[in-house]
Amino acid sequence: MSYNLDNIKQEIKEGLLIGKGSSRKVYLLKSGLVCKVAFNKKGFDQNRTEYTLSGENEYLNPVIEISPCYAYIICEYCEKVKGLNAIKNYIAFNVAGETNLKKVEIERYFSDFLQDMETNYNLLQGNIKVARSWGLNKKGNYVIIDYGLNFNVWENYYSMRARRKLQIYKNVNG
Ligand SMILES: Nc1ncnc2c1ncn2[C@@H]1O[C@H](COP(=O)(O)OP(=O)(O)OP(=O)(O)O)[C@@H](O)[C@H]1O
Ligand SMILES: [Mg+2]
Repeated sequence: MSYNLDNIKQEIKEGLLIGKGSSRKVYLLKSGLVCKVAFNKKGFDQNRTEYTLSGENEYLNPVIEISPCYAYIICEYCEKVKGLNAIKNYIAFNVAGETNLKKVEIERYFSDFLQDMETNYNLLQGNIKVARSWGLNKKGNYVIIDYGLNFNVWENYYSMRARRKLQIYKNVNG
């Protein structure tokens, strides 16, 4: 499915603001899709990462359309997920193909999943093991809705800031 980006500014104006993070605002459009609007460089980089990884894995909510320079990405709307348990059960069932699993087995499948997402896509496990990074899509599948902050983007924004602070500290304190 493709999306006409020509009227996107008007669509956003008429859309409903449903979320705001550290670098993106998220609007629900009339079409029922969402638009993630970057408002700083980290937001542009996160939009690009989500576009790049989208389609690589069934658990990543796909990016349907992008604007030049990644100011906007259009994705499917997902409902909020209350806790992690439903997600853990969902993943364990998908992998094992059965429901009668022990809690320890479910935890094991989930930690293997986190490790795979880190190994294959450079994603931060800490970001995936929180319910707010997940949503429930129209088909009833649990998907990750916020996966733009991979190790590369994290390095660029957080460790660089930490290094800069350390440098200032050294300069001030000799
Ligand atoms: N596909 C979606 N469907 C419904 N709501 C969404 C979707 N994507 C994001 N949101 C909502 O918008 C909020 C902000 O989006 P997102 O977390 O992707 O932005 P962010 O800039 O990466 O935020 P943060 O820096 O806090 O991680 C989310 O917490 C969520 O509530
Ligand atoms: Mg985020």
